[in-house]
Amino acid sequence: MKPASGEWFDVINPATTQRIARVPQAGKADVDAAVAAARAAFPGWSGLPGHARARYLYALAREVQRHARLLAVLESMDNGKSIRETRDLDIPLVARHFYHHAGWAQLRESEFAGATPVGVVGQIIPWNFPLLMVAWKVAPALAAGNTVVLKPAEFTPLTALAFAEIVAEAGLPPGVLNVITGDGRTGALLVDQADVDKIAFTGSTEVGRVIRKATAGSGKKLSLELGGKSPFIVFDDADLDSVVEGVVDAIWFNQGQVCCAGSRLLVHEGVAERLVAKLRARMEKLRVGPPLDKAIDMGAIVAPVQLERIRGLVSKGVEEGATMWQPSWACPTEGYFYPPTLFTDVSPAATIAQVEIFGPVLVAMSFRTPKEAVELANNTPYGLAASVWTENINLALDVAPKIKAGVVWINCTNVFDAASGFGGYRESGFGREGGREGMWEYLKLQWDEGRGTGDGSKRSVAKGASRRTRPSSPVPLPPIDRTYKMFIGGKQARPDAPYPRAIVAPDGRRLAEVGEGNRKDVRNAVEAARAAEGWAHTTGHTRGQILYYIAENLATRTDEFAARIDAMTGCGPERARAEVDAAVSRLFTYASWADKYDGQVHPTTIRGVTLAMNEPIGVVGIAAPEDLPLLGFVSLVAPAVAVGNTVVAIPSEIHPLAATELYSVLETSDVPAGVMNIVTGSKDELSKVLADHLDVDAMWYFGNQVAAAEVERASAGNMKRTWAEWHARDWLDPHQGEGREFLREATQVKNIWIPYGE
Ligand code: NAI
Repeated sequence: MKPASGEWFDVINPATTQRIARVPQAGKADVDAAVAAARAAFPGWSGLPGHARARYLYALAREVQRHARLLAVLESMDNGKSIRETRDLDIPLVARHFYHHAGWAQLRESEFAGATPVGVVGQIIPWNFPLLMVAWKVAPALAAGNTVVLKPAEFTPLTALAFAEIVAEAGLPPGVLNVITGDGRTGALLVDQADVDKIAFTGSTEVGRVIRKATAGSGKKLSLELGGKSPFIVFDDADLDSVVEGVVDAIWFNQGQVCCAGSRLLVHEGVAERLVAKLRARMEKLRVGPPLDKAIDMGAIVAPVQLERIRGLVSKGVEEGATMWQPSWACPTEGYFYPPTLFTDVSPAATIAQVEIFGPVLVAMSFRTPKEAVELANNTPYGLAASVWTENINLALDVAPKIKAGVVWINCTNVFDAASGFGGYRESGFGREGGREGMWEYLKLQWDEGRGTGDGSKRSVAKGASRRTRPSSPVPLPPIDRTYKMFIGGKQARPDAPYPRAIVAPDGRRLAEVGEGNRKDVRNAVEAARAAEGWAHTTGHTRGQILYYIAENLATRTDEFAARIDAMTGCGPERARAEVDAAVSRLFTYASWADKYDGQVHPTTIRGVTLAMNEPIGVVGIAAPEDLPLLGFVSLVAPAVAVGNTVVAIPSEIHPLAATELYSVLETSDVPAGVMNIVTGSKDELSKVLADHLDVDAMWYFGNQVAAAEVERASAGNMKRTWAEWHARDWLDPHQGEGREFLREATQVKNIWIPYGE
């Protein structure tokens, strides 16, 4: 759009110094228009059910993956960072962030009950991870139900603009995300805009301070992620070769332009000399060059002003008496390049030991004792991150809590994930990005219950409506088209017994035939489930992805499934459709939980940590309820597999066709063989066989009291856990049909005690 200010500015490729674009410098009228658009979009966006926002965020993740190559190249050209990093790190993390927050959108109403979105959020981001910072800011804000005005940094606005196009492509309502380009003046206008409810900022401590003052007393919520001078502590028992690679990632990754860069190397005196020698050898092999060359390690510095700042601080270091070392090779002369640099003989009070250089410059100091290491580490006004290297877990866990920093990495560095909060102590700012704690930055507590967001009430209205509709005559029947087999080990398997079971409509018409499962089929299914145990060791992210994929493939066949359910049960087309929609939403719920059902750290009386970890139980037998044959089935199988169990499931006995129809959905959704196995037939008989089976670890039964008692009795064989219910649940009601109760049943808690201290 043409800026109201009439001003434009150039965007330069720092590796070539060539202009690659011109973008508008947004003035007051542009900022006001963007905020007004966000305000207008807020009621609609915040009023959507969480599931709808989850679908949008999920679509954004998919779009980012689809355009990954374009985004990686654009980011590299705009910022100067290497394509290897944008391709392998920035862009995948961006997608991961949107997937993770699609989950929080889905779970917001249950997991943040009593909270509502803040409103219109102004977000100001820096140039060092342009698109990643977009994701860190935009994903939680939108998941929570806010609308956004985003200002990317003036050096690197291009991927944010490309992302705005992606948002439009994904069909988000206009005004939900607005991007304005410009320098600090535009940022200041956004901060001062009266109709903005929250400012989220990442950048220098200096500007953070200005923003804190500008927003004071305005009622605007604020989160600040600022600079750092993070310590990288190496004890004498550390694996020095790993340390060297760690240092490369800590300070030469992204040319050192990383807020949490391990820029202060603190080394145990005894190994200092050896480590410095190894580091110099490694630096000699680093490659600085054109960022689009896949083989280079370091690209260009973002802009001449930053290059000058680095040069100035390095000269200061030399002036103050420290020893400077750089590799023997020369950097390219075209473009803004700076070589990896190592300072030794640095005094803790020196400028280069205190000031954030924001370049590929490492300053090394030594210490004698762990106490001295902690003192040195904390000798900074910042507190963003730290990394601790030692093979002694007692020492690592003793030191980690003593360091004043928001993130401490043990034997690793610069690791990020959407499921974990990131943010600083002290002058590194406040507020967290990522994980559950990050979501709170974009929510406020709703004291006035009467006002509500409307999400919850809308849902219950829809549910009530669907409950009431029970037309008497079913829609025309689909033809008798199939004889269904079992689903075992990822394949449709012929049942052991040759006599199928007929499935009939309420009026007695024959709909289809399914296999009559017996002991042998159950045995094969349990064997397949056991063989698929590796599922427990996949990441929650992967398990979530697969559940989303099932939801996606089920959603595209909504009509077909609804017709099937209606024909089987005679519930009427509307209610059948509501059941399929609810099943899709339920799959989203557990896809969301897959990377969020985390454990706790207990405050026990030992000096140390007691980690409570949720672990899957193993092979879970599941007998689904008769009512709501698709939703009941999905409501039990999805939580079990989300946390890493493998299952042998028996669908509704009288209405099994929704589950058998799922075979083809599972086959096309990347579900690993054996994770979900389905055996049809007499529910109570098959449940008894599962409950008796010594290689089944838990048995869930939803049916009648007599069979439930039988399941509980039979489970005594290997003392398997049982969950047997004969009271009817309303599976359409999220309070009864989903949530933590199901996840608790699907897991067991392991407490790991780790005392620490030397
Ligand atoms: P900066 O803090 O000036 O810029 C960050 C963002 O804030 C940009 O989008 C900028 O346009 C905006 N901005 C600038 N002045 C503003 C104001 N008064 N009100 C509202 N928004 C404003 O950082 P800059 O100048 O790009 O870099 C300077 C130093 O800041 C770096 O050398 C480094 O030490 C530090 N820095 C730290 C970052 C971090 O991730 N913690 C990121 C970028 C820079």
